[in-house]
Amino acid sequence: MANSAMLSDLYESMNGSVSGLDQYDAGILQPSTRQPVDADHLPKFFSQRPLEWWHHLPELVSGDVRLRELCLTDAPSLAETLGSAKVGEHLSSGPKSVAEAEKFIAWTRRARRAGRYICFGVTTQGVDEAVGLFQVWPLEPSFCTAEWGFALGHRYWGTGLFVTAARLVTAYAFDTIGVQRLEARSAVDNVRGNAALKKLGAVSEGVLRKCFMANGEYRDHVMWSMLADDWRAAQESKGRALQVTGNVA
Ligand SMILES: CC(C)(COP(=O)(O)OP(=O)(O)OC[C@H]1O[C@@H](n2cnc3c(N)ncnc32)[C@H](O)[C@@H]1OP(=O)(O)O)[C@@H](O)C(=O)NCCC(=O)NCCS
Repeated sequence: MANSAMLSDLYESMNGSVSGLDQYDAGILQPSTRQPVDADHLPKFFSQRPLEWWHHLPELVSGDVRLRELCLTDAPSLAETLGSAKVGEHLSSGPKSVAEAEKFIAWTRRARRAGRYICFGVTTQGVDEAVGLFQVWPLEPSFCTAEWGFALGHRYWGTGLFVTAARLVTAYAFDTIGVQRLEARSAVDNVRGNAALKKLGAVSEGVLRKCFMANGEYRDHVMWSMLADDWRAAQESKGRALQVTGNVA
């Protein structure tokens, strides 16, 4: 995300104006060197894609794992997940109350409609509310280079939910959105986050020194990347199947 960056930027943005995208863009999606995407003039690249995610985010399904757009009914579960000290240890503050989570959810939909951001809530067997989230956002207008981030409720760590959900998201990013390079940053001392990325096949490219503030201090982050070509080669050799179904309005 900026794995660490995302939650704090979103949170700070939520505490500012929630009526528009400008403040969010300045924080999470459009760092100073990045060009803004005009919502009214999306690049042609977008309109050529078979699934117009900025209108409707699809559901991504694999076995019991279902990824779908966040709904307001996810707010209590999301506040619990993202507000947990364990989950937030290497991240900056996320929404901690139901009201904050509701604002965040509303923002994710506005940002998606503007073509600037995708957020999937994660559900699994017997759980209708999102127990985690995966975010993907473009680092440049074509979405060829993108960044992603994720967090799951602590009780779901080590259950396999992460890997299944992550595979759905990477497949969606590479196959449908057209991402060529998917970046992730993880605090150097986030053992679990770094191991999870490595397990997916992400390649560590080095350490970004004190690149983001979390819990009051600037932290070094590992820069991870996944390339579409590598991902496709791995899929072919493993013969993985992905089912993408439905649409969430
Ligand atoms: C990142 C996250 C989504 C991963 O989900 P998860 O269910 O914990 O991931 P997994 O269990 O599939 O994989 C984590 C790996 O870390 C490994 N790990 C855990 N503790 C470890 C330790 N002390 N030393 C080495 N490896 C360790 C696990 O063994 C596991 O790898 P394995 O399955 O090959 O054994 C989840 O931990 C989370 O939400 N963390 C908080 C938010 C966060 O840090 N987000 C990511 C920022 S990059």
